[in-house]
Amino acid sequence: MTAGASPARDAAADGRLPEWAQVSEARLAHIGRVAALMDGWARSLGLDEAERRRWRAAAWLHDALRDAPPAELRPGVPEALRSLPGKVLHGPAVAARLRAEGVADEELLSAVAWHTLGHPALGPLGRALYLADFLEPGRGFQPLRLATLRARMPAATDEVLRIVLAARLRHLLDTGHPLRRESVDFWNVIAGAP
Ligand SMILES: [Fe+2]
Ligand SMILES: [Fe+2]
Repeated sequence: MTAGASPARDAAADGRLPEWAQVSEARLAHIGRVAALMDGWARSLGLDEAERRRWRAAAWLHDALRDAPPAELRPGVPEALRSLPGKVLHGPAVAARLRAEGVADEELLSAVAWHTLGHPALGPLGRALYLADFLEPGRGFQPLRLATLRARMPAATDEVLRIVLAARLRHLLDTGHPLRRESVDFWNVIAGAP
């Protein structure tokens, strides 16, 4: 559902963050690269201008509170998510803030909320954001591998998502981190579990 007019979403589609955003210069550059990637993919997929604006808006908004202190964000997220690690709170916090401001675009809110952890309900927009966040060209690790995966986008989105999600889950396992149920359920959907 795309919902109707929303000033915060419309401004973000034009590259303007909400006044409550807390982002460093480096973060802003990352956000811009994610937005450029998302817009390119949306265009390649032949999406219309309204849809391209939604994809850009999701990208500009996804890390809008990434540099806010987690202790500030925690009270504002839904009860079930308050125990998340500090680094992961910003997605749900932005979604909650946008919702409170009247943004009713559930697909966009969900894409923003779950861009770090993934979620089985993510559709094309949320899946693209999850990938763009990881694959944007400013990422310092494994640049050749990421460039190879970027080159396959958006035509091979499903396969690239499988590769990226597997790598991210593997990293969490290898470093002894717990897995969120939403992330595992996301994997099961992507891997075609019955
Ligand atoms: Fe993020
Ligand atoms: Fe990000």
